[in-house]
Amino acid sequence: MLFSAGVVALLALAVPVRSNAFPAPGAASYEYVVVGGGTAGLTIAARLAAAGKSVAVVEAGGWATEMGNLTTVPGYAFSNPVLAPIEFFPPFPLLDWELLSQPQTGANNRKVHYAAGKTLGGTSAVNTMAYHRATKGTHQRWADIAGHASYAWNNMLQFFVKSSTLTPPDWMKRATLNASFIFDPTVFCFEAFSLSPCGPLQVSYSNWVDPTNTWFSVALSTIGMLPNLLGFNSGFLSGGAYTTETVDPDTATRSSSQTSYLTWALQNTQLKVYNRTQASKVLFTSGKATGVRVSTEGAAAYTLTATKEVILSAGTFHSPQLLMLSGIGPQALLNSLNIPVVSALSGVGQNLQDPIFFSVQNGVKTPSLASELADPNRAAPNLAAYTNNKAGPYSSPGGYIAFEKLPASSRAGFSARTSTLLASLPDDVPEIEYLAGSFAGTGNGVTTIGDLSAAVLNPFSRGSVTLASADIATPPVIDMGWLTDAADAEVAVAAFKRLRQAWSSPLLSGWKVGGEVAPGAAAGVQTDEQILGYIRSNCIQIWHASATCAMGTDPAAGAVVDWRAKVFGVDGLRVVDASALPFALPGHPQATIYAFAEKIAAGILAGN
Ligand SMILES: Cc1cc2nc3c(=O)[nH]c(=O)nc-3n(C[C@H](O)[C@H](O)[C@H](O)COP(=O)(O)OP(=O)(O)OC[C@H]3O[C@@H](n4cnc5c(N)ncnc54)[C@H](O)[C@@H]3O)c2cc1C
Ligand SMILES: *[C@@H]1O[C@H](CO)[C@@H](O)[C@H](O)[C@H]1NC(C)=O
Ligand SMILES: *[C@@H]1O[C@H](CO)[C@@H](O)[C@H](O)[C@H]1NC(C)=O
Ligand SMILES: *[C@@H]1O[C@H](CO)[C@@H](O)[C@H](O)[C@H]1NC(C)=O
Repeated sequence: MLFSAGVVALLALAVPVRSNAFPAPGAASYEYVVVGGGTAGLTIAARLAAAGKSVAVVEAGGWATEMGNLTTVPGYAFSNPVLAPIEFFPPFPLLDWELLSQPQTGANNRKVHYAAGKTLGGTSAVNTMAYHRATKGTHQRWADIAGHASYAWNNMLQFFVKSSTLTPPDWMKRATLNASFIFDPTVFCFEAFSLSPCGPLQVSYSNWVDPTNTWFSVALSTIGMLPNLLGFNSGFLSGGAYTTETVDPDTATRSSSQTSYLTWALQNTQLKVYNRTQASKVLFTSGKATGVRVSTEGAAAYTLTATKEVILSAGTFHSPQLLMLSGIGPQALLNSLNIPVVSALSGVGQNLQDPIFFSVQNGVKTPSLASELADPNRAAPNLAAYTNNKAGPYSSPGGYIAFEKLPASSRAGFSARTSTLLASLPDDVPEIEYLAGSFAGTGNGVTTIGDLSAAVLNPFSRGSVTLASADIATPPVIDMGWLTDAADAEVAVAAFKRLRQAWSSPLLSGWKVGGEVAPGAAAGVQTDEQILGYIRSNCIQIWHASATCAMGTDPAAGAVVDWRAKVFGVDGLRVVDASALPFALPGHPQATIYAFAEKIAAGILAGN
């Protein structure tokens, strides 16, 4: 583990602070009160404030830099102990909500820690920085479910472009010919060519290429996922590519909603920020949201009045919790906790979709991000490369991924039901994502333990977020529902076999060292039943849980918000974050969450 408690030293906060940006605790009134200063929350708050609206953001956490460089150095992203997806996890109260799931009945009754950012920046301050977009078919499906064409790809693209600035690859720093590609300049804003300023979020390609990833690119090519030279930002997800990442290439540090949108808003708007302040309840008068009860550092509660709207951006787990605590949710649950019902909405907290992933490992000869960070002899040169040149392993969170719909040979054994469910997805939606990863080697020629994993992208299993008490101090009760639908189990087993197919390519024989490390020959993981057992015991989340306040048209069918992200049955209340997505997006969601927040902000300003 990279970080001892000693590293948790307080650094000076390098934040430009406008003197009136952080109001003292106490009753106050704004046009808009945004609950949650995370990925979506800071985006929407910054845009509303930039248009001259009076806006306050309420964020339970503080500043991620209180954890030193743990969250800022891209190379630390995957080994960050805050992520630990295990039952007995190291606590990091300055960064994480420390949520522990219910036993996963489909995954050997394991309880796992589910990291969720509790800091300005929210989960964008602790995630692993992959940036890419969903497919055109995904956006059409979203438009169909929302009953509004504004979610179609051609209408959403402007908001992806507006949110970010792309810096093209620095080929000199990457210095790896066999990791070359072109990219699609038509789907981004570039500082150099744009007349108006691009969006604050920095998107770039790493200034270092992990040599092990170049071999995973070969491995995935041999089973059909050829390099996709245009990358994954143009509305297509198939083949393999080095991802764009939320990294500022000038400093080689993380770009989060805090470093990007908030920094910008503190300099350019009158946005007010209540950090270390937790919202406990949305208040209503005659069915209209009029404000939020909050408490700063656990002191006496006070009310922030919202004369126009309250916007919940508290994330997949906490937005439904706050709705239910405020009287919006399944009627029987609210009654059982004596919470007065404001709007009976059966879908609140239901419909949780959480893609899982799992891996097959083998020793390999090449160095990797993990081996570089673990090797004491490499520490000085790597630190010098990072400090002097913003390059080398510390500058990169990794990032080779690939997507596919499983080939015919993998689906021959699927049940009719599974085949029908998969056929209901749009043609361009991949079923599996493959991710290249690494652990430090074990010596004897094993420089790196190569870790190739597969994620099941479109879970048919459903989980939930519910309440154990009517008190905000009680964490939400989280059940991801992993592998409780047989279709997910069938798809997972097929994906696991693809991992072994990739590893067994003859082109890799000069690269691999020794046999399979995990599961490994001794584990006896061969039959479908054994493979499924292995997955149930070892799968973890890829941290993309969503859809617990799902967008749709019919509240009786479980929809919580409409196409404007307005909560059904009340006025003046929206939910804008991963919880309002109608379903699990294929791949990594942050790009879409930023664009979604931009879209709703533009809608509010346009009077929608
Ligand atoms: C470990 C990890 C790795 C990931 N890797 C990637 C990746 O590489 N690429 C990618 O695209 N996605 C990734 N994701 C997913 C992605 O980061 C999230 O889906 C996204 O950031 C969620 O944004 P959000 O706005 O919904 O919520 P968040 O960003 O989590 O914001 C919610 C905010 O609300 C605050 N809050 C909650 N309750 C309250 C309350 N009662 N009062 C006040 N404030 C409150 C929280 O503290 C938080 O700041 C990852 C996620 C995790 C956890
Ligand atoms: C991160 O901070 C620690 C503690 O200050 C320091 O030892 C380490 O070198 C830093 N890492 C990088 C990559 O700068
Ligand atoms: C790609 O090139 C790098 C060095 O630039 C090397 O370390 C790596 O092994 C090469 N990968 C393949 C698949 O040849
Ligand atoms: C919020 O952050 C600002 C800037 O660092 C700080 O001045 C203020 O004290 C913080 N608020 C709380 C309640 O910690």
